[in-house]
Amino acid sequence: MSKAWGGRFTEPTNAQVELFTESISFDARLAEVDVRGSKAHAEMLSEVGLISAEEFQQISANLTEILGEIQRGEMEFSPSLEDIHMHIESALIRRLGDVGRKLHTGRSRNDQVSTDIRLYIRDCIDVIDELLQQFQASFVSRGDADIDIVLPGYTHMQRAQPVSATHYWLCWCEKLQRDRERLVDCRKRVNVSPLGCAALAGSTLPINRDRTAELLGFDSVAANSLDVSSDRDYLVEFSSALGLIAVHLSSWAEEWILWCTTEFGFLTLSDAYTTGSSIMPQKKNPDVLELIRGKSARTIAATQQLFLLLKGLPLAYNRDLQEDKLAAFAAYDTVRSCLELAPAIVRNATLNVDRINARIEEGFLDATALMEYLIKQGVPMRSGHETVGHLVHLCEQKKCRLADLTLEELRASSSTINEDVYDILGARNAMTALQSYGSGGRDRVVEQLNRWQGRLGM
Ligand code: ARG
Repeated sequence: MSKAWGGRFTEPTNAQVELFTESISFDARLAEVDVRGSKAHAEMLSEVGLISAEEFQQISANLTEILGEIQRGEMEFSPSLEDIHMHIESALIRRLGDVGRKLHTGRSRNDQVSTDIRLYIRDCIDVIDELLQQFQASFVSRGDADIDIVLPGYTHMQRAQPVSATHYWLCWCEKLQRDRERLVDCRKRVNVSPLGCAALAGSTLPINRDRTAELLGFDSVAANSLDVSSDRDYLVEFSSALGLIAVHLSSWAEEWILWCTTEFGFLTLSDAYTTGSSIMPQKKNPDVLELIRGKSARTIAATQQLFLLLKGLPLAYNRDLQEDKLAAFAAYDTVRSCLELAPAIVRNATLNVDRINARIEEGFLDATALMEYLIKQGVPMRSGHETVGHLVHLCEQKKCRLADLTLEELRASSSTINEDVYDILGARNAMTALQSYGSGGRDRVVEQLNRWQGRLGM
């Protein structure tokens, strides 16, 4: 097959070189955006008189047909045509001859590939945003039913203070909301048009870059051709945003894996989202959650890969940049596949309320509430801390809860304690007594649940 760039060559390309330099094996997914970009480019060319209106119509109609062929799997890909851009352009030339040969007027594959990636990533951002919203909605959907379930909150993996189970669910909504905001912010820098910067310097032809930007829905036009032909910052930003999503997914997965252990026993996953063991008949394993945790490695590594790819690269386009797609697509595919499963796992899991309640009074979850009771009675915080510390020690010796101590035993430590102390002792009372904004107390969590239901239109 003769090369589009073959004019100055007298020898054919070495076959190994063709295999080494191709990107069609991983950039074929850009076919749709490549055609979108080429149609806009051709329309602009016709408007400025570089091709005729008739030629634009022919190019546009044939590009639609070529895309159809690709999408139906009818186009045979060949490493000798390098990438998706060359496959589409050579198919057009095969169909239209000289008219097809005009499409690449006033552009280069360097601005073409960056235009394609930007259009593709813009769509990816919208897909991920929608999936994040569905993940948030899965947590919010549990909110009303789980509001009165008291769960231990932990620090250092040690029981700390009690919170409403719904507080846990809304915690993930907040993290995922920041993930969504990061993507919205990243999208601004993705949505800038490189088209018309051509190879690196722009063009001597009277192309209209504003027009192609407008046709493709870009917010603005890149102002420096050298900059934009070397710019992949937006991919680092995109993969970093995905990296944080992967980190959040991995923490959620880790916590739920723990909660599913016999040791915790808080949670049972639905059979449909777990797998068995080939040797141990009793096993029901949280493999999906483990893989969500594990796949975060691939997503986080993509950002490193992109940083390393860009570090020290001279201006402007260098072929190194072809590798950008491998990292960005890997991060996207990975996060997308996790987010496609996560909401169903959340919706179909059962909190084992009896099991949670059976042990909720262990671990002195109400100790901080008791200390704050003393503060309200006028006791200095540090003194209250010490007093409750002594009472916890006493309970450990007596093998009982704080709520099991008699008023006399409590008053022996601090005479400010009255009968009403029992209103805040016990995990449920201590949870309900939490009242600061953003706390895990029932009333505050209801407030936040209402906010999330409103925000997600639920
Ligand atoms: N397949 C190439 C890439 O992904 C397209 C750009 C090629 N440009 C060039 N000057 N060889 O980067």
